[in-house]
Amino acid sequence: MGSVCGSGRNPMVMTRVQYTEKPNLEDWQLVAKFCRHLTPEGLADTLAKYVLAANPKRILDPCYGEGALIRSVLKRLKRYPKKRQPEIIACDVLDGECDKELLINKVTIVRGDFLRWKDSMGQEKGVDAVICNPPYIGNRNLPLRVRGVVKKLSEDNKIKLPGNSNYWIFFLLHSLVHLRKGGRIAFILPTSWKYADYAKEIRNLIRASFEKVEEESLPEPVFETSREGTELLFASGFFGNEVCKNFINGFSPSNRDVVCSGQSLRLSRAKLISLGEVIRINIGIVCGGVKFFLLNKSKMKDLGIGHKYVLPVVSNTKHLKAPILDRKQFEDLDENDERLWLFYPRDKSFSKVVRNYIEEGERLRFNEALWCRRREPWYLTQIKPPSNFILSGMVREYPLICVNESKVFATNTLYIGNWKNEKYEGMEIVLLAVLFSDLARKSVMELARKYPDGLLKFEPCDLMAWKIPDPREISLNGLQKKEMKRLFKQNKFEEINKIINKLICNTDSQ
Ligand SMILES: C[S@@+](CC[C@H](N)C(=O)[O-])C[C@H]1O[C@@H](n2cnc3c(N)ncnc32)[C@H](O)[C@@H]1O
Repeated sequence: MGSVCGSGRNPMVMTRVQYTEKPNLEDWQLVAKFCRHLTPEGLADTLAKYVLAANPKRILDPCYGEGALIRSVLKRLKRYPKKRQPEIIACDVLDGECDKELLINKVTIVRGDFLRWKDSMGQEKGVDAVICNPPYIGNRNLPLRVRGVVKKLSEDNKIKLPGNSNYWIFFLLHSLVHLRKGGRIAFILPTSWKYADYAKEIRNLIRASFEKVEEESLPEPVFETSREGTELLFASGFFGNEVCKNFINGFSPSNRDVVCSGQSLRLSRAKLISLGEVIRINIGIVCGGVKFFLLNKSKMKDLGIGHKYVLPVVSNTKHLKAPILDRKQFEDLDENDERLWLFYPRDKSFSKVVRNYIEEGERLRFNEALWCRRREPWYLTQIKPPSNFILSGMVREYPLICVNESKVFATNTLYIGNWKNEKYEGMEIVLLAVLFSDLARKSVMELARKYPDGLLKFEPCDLMAWKIPDPREISLNGLQKKEMKRLFKQNKFEEINKIINKLICNTDSQ
């Protein structure tokens, strides 16, 4: 029950969460040790601006700590007329130095465990906006009793969370319980929001539960106590608890999914499968010494090594110029004197120049390199036959997948992909096209590991987990395929995106 700590024109309301058992202060002090970090003012202002933009009647901060976010909200509210002043609710397990200031400003303080606070549930009592900088603590580091609470919350919400999951997830999850239909949230999250496997379910849930979801990565770590990068999550137009519950109750990403058109999300019936169901992805061949094994045509000429002793190979992301790697593209690269020839003297009766080159390799001790010394003879790389696709997982913007029309080999800086399921064989153009749909664009970004220099890294397993519309549900006639192929050769991805989105929507409406 609420206890009134003031009277008259400025009632100061301190509400205490009711528990069946007494909250354990020791537990919370332990938790706070990990997470009582202050949100920088500029960042707090950004979040405050976002939640106030929709003129909310009630705003909640589930764990206000030292009150940085609430202070930013109050600062902006000074400009608001009295009748537009929203009610502000601030919850935390521990008292804060800012409490007095908050109470003077008529903030309702809820003292207790937010994750067990159910009072504001439902449309009547809910809030219109949640602003939050939740604690980031690995579940394994939580006190036992707190671990019990989060375990129950994930069971109640049927959210599967592995042991290495993190405390912040539950603040996001439980905020939805309190949010009114049409409401919005602004959260400061760690980078794991974007790529962690354990966060996959909550990401899907958030992206399916709001009309518009915007995410922003901050370039520098914000908090001294956490070396992780920071992500800002802004979501508006909450579909309501029913959609949320439906999602949790079985509308998993594979049978009801999220289409991103521009920034707004809507639900589609398009069937999603993982790319790994269509192609198997592995790393390319390991030669064991790029400088020795990869030759360009001018070096071959200098050495007098003929094409009989080499194999055509791509070895670098920059060799994948367009999603159709055809003969012409390969020849153009060769014209540019790229290193496209793998030294591979399979014919034992090789010429003197080849013998000399092998001896030169031995003099330079390439034969002692890790991969070379494992094989016999050391200079014969273990070959994987030319694959159906060649992929790059280290990219600036988007994973690169090329149809290997030129039937060349690929080294291990690149990945190779081969049809896994014969049902899809021959559907390379449709497969490429669905990879550029809004659905696929949205889901792949969840898998990217971001490097500080802005590069995105996708491991083969990440790419195989990529959720894409099922190519078998899209029918392209001969003319359309030809047109798509032309567009791919010219890297006209936006045009492809428009066409494929339309085709997916047509499938939807059938
Ligand atoms: C990162 S701090 C919040 C910082 C705050 N936004 C600021 O900038 O001052 C996280 C807060 O979560 C609180 N907390 C941890 N577990 C909680 C729970 N179950 N319910 C409510 N608050 C909790 C901690 O006491 C801590 O104050």
